Amino acid sequence: MADHVRIFDTTLRDGEQSPGISLDVAEKLEIAEQLARLNVDIIEAGFPIASDGDFEAVEAIAKHIRGPVIAGLSRTGFKDIDRAWEAVRHAERPRIHVFIATSPIHMAKKLRMTEDQVKAEVAAGVARAKSYCDDIEYSPEDGSRSDPEFMRDVLQIAIDNGATTLNIPDTVGFGVPEEFGKLIAYVVENVKGDYVVSTHCHNDLGLAVANSLSGVAAGARQIECAINGLGERAGNAALEEIVMAVKTRGDYFGEVEVGVRTEELARTSRLVARLTGYAVQYNKAVVGRNAFAHEAGIHQHGVLEDRETYEIIDAASVGQEAAQIVLGKHSGRHAFSDTLNKMGLHVQGDALNQAFVRFKELADRKVAITESDLEAIVAEELGTGVVHRFSLVSLDVHGGTVHQPTAHVVLTDGDGKVEAEADGNGMVDAAIAAIAQATGISGTLLDFKVSSVTGGGDALGDVVALLEADGHKASGRGVATDIVEASARAYLSAVNKIVRLQARNETRERVVGP
Ligand code: KIV
Ligand code: ZN
Repeated sequence: MADHVRIFDTTLRDGEQSPGISLDVAEKLEIAEQLARLNVDIIEAGFPIASDGDFEAVEAIAKHIRGPVIAGLSRTGFKDIDRAWEAVRHAERPRIHVFIATSPIHMAKKLRMTEDQVKAEVAAGVARAKSYCDDIEYSPEDGSRSDPEFMRDVLQIAIDNGATTLNIPDTVGFGVPEEFGKLIAYVVENVKGDYVVSTHCHNDLGLAVANSLSGVAAGARQIECAINGLGERAGNAALEEIVMAVKTRGDYFGEVEVGVRTEELARTSRLVARLTGYAVQYNKAVVGRNAFAHEAGIHQHGVLEDRETYEIIDAASVGQEAAQIVLGKHSGRHAFSDTLNKMGLHVQGDALNQAFVRFKELADRKVAITESDLEAIVAEELGTGVVHRFSLVSLDVHGGTVHQPTAHVVLTDGDGKVEAEADGNGMVDAAIAAIAQATGISGTLLDFKVSSVTGGGDALGDVVALLEADGHKASGRGVATDIVEASARAYLSAVNKIVRLQARNETRERVVGP
């Protein structure tokens, strides 16, 4: 029987720590549902002590998602562990993931602890977590830069106090494959007990996937990874690459298998890109839009004769077949919601109503609506379950090269309406200025990206705006056939998130000591 390699997805925790990503509860739930559909083994849903928003998201995921283990991250302090348990305890299969650093630099400069103090923290923290639940993971942060013998002793303490998974992080992406594989083999050989060894590799040198796979070859049976390789700094190992490497190169990895439904990979990647605002590079392995495109004539000829001349993965097996036309302007509400259900998007209540209105508007302007278009509209309307203070009623813009561009915007503000007029150095600038005036929120635009959902002249414009205002950062996304309208929607969505953050006056706790 093949050995099962567990896929531990940390998109919602390490991935969400990427600069500029701020997902709300509804968005995190949507991603968690898709991860469950993808059939990952473990979802790390967040870091409950970090903020009330993180706690709520982990709790909601634990309550609603069935199938995967739901993990919450925690430092070794009892307050953290109690909070993590409080959030994950509703899960069918909860896990507490406890971590504390073991490298000399982290212990001296960040924790200000001696080796003995770290050992005592691990013993107490893991035992506390074990008093709540059976499934306990321990990570020696910065493991790859730790003294292997000290790390081994700490890992043994974790096992002796009830840990069931030992995760070895290459926190700063320092490892290289052969060396990291040896570290995993060292742990397997020297830590006694019944546990699963795991890898958690960052991509600072572009080696996260290679290091993780080297870990598998050395005996790791859990890989921590994130969709589209999201994560702190240069990111984590990309889930889609890990899974397809293990599946495609069974001849090399031997008797190991992963349980992921690969046909869901492309959709998961698109959803995460859309909700986080982190676009996927065109030539990204497995899920990039060019991953199966053949430009050179000689390649095209070969593929037409036999796909395997130039393709080692079947595009359909990762859900990368051509965008399908699913609906048109005559499709009604029933067909709309039925199609969403078939696509695995379960949208209800206000979000469904809003998405249907947007679909009708879109169908008036675009002849064929594809799955990707629907995914984009639904992603934009997802936050509707959470109260949006402002929504767009109308936008009137004038521009060109002759007159100064101007915009007039009308918004709902709760039960009332607000409007404003402004000019700008372009139509997008004018629309944003008008919204800033109408809402009273004018921050700094840290990032602004424009792309298209599908190809062709009538493609939906897709805009992501990252806004900083009043000490808060939030990203918003907008889709529309018109790029100025998409920009206005993206900006407004970021404004709505800032309003929510202001109301909660919420900031995230910086993770340092235990
Ligand atoms: O990179 C890291 O070390 C982590 C740990 C919390 C596992 O994210
Ligand atoms: Zn990490």
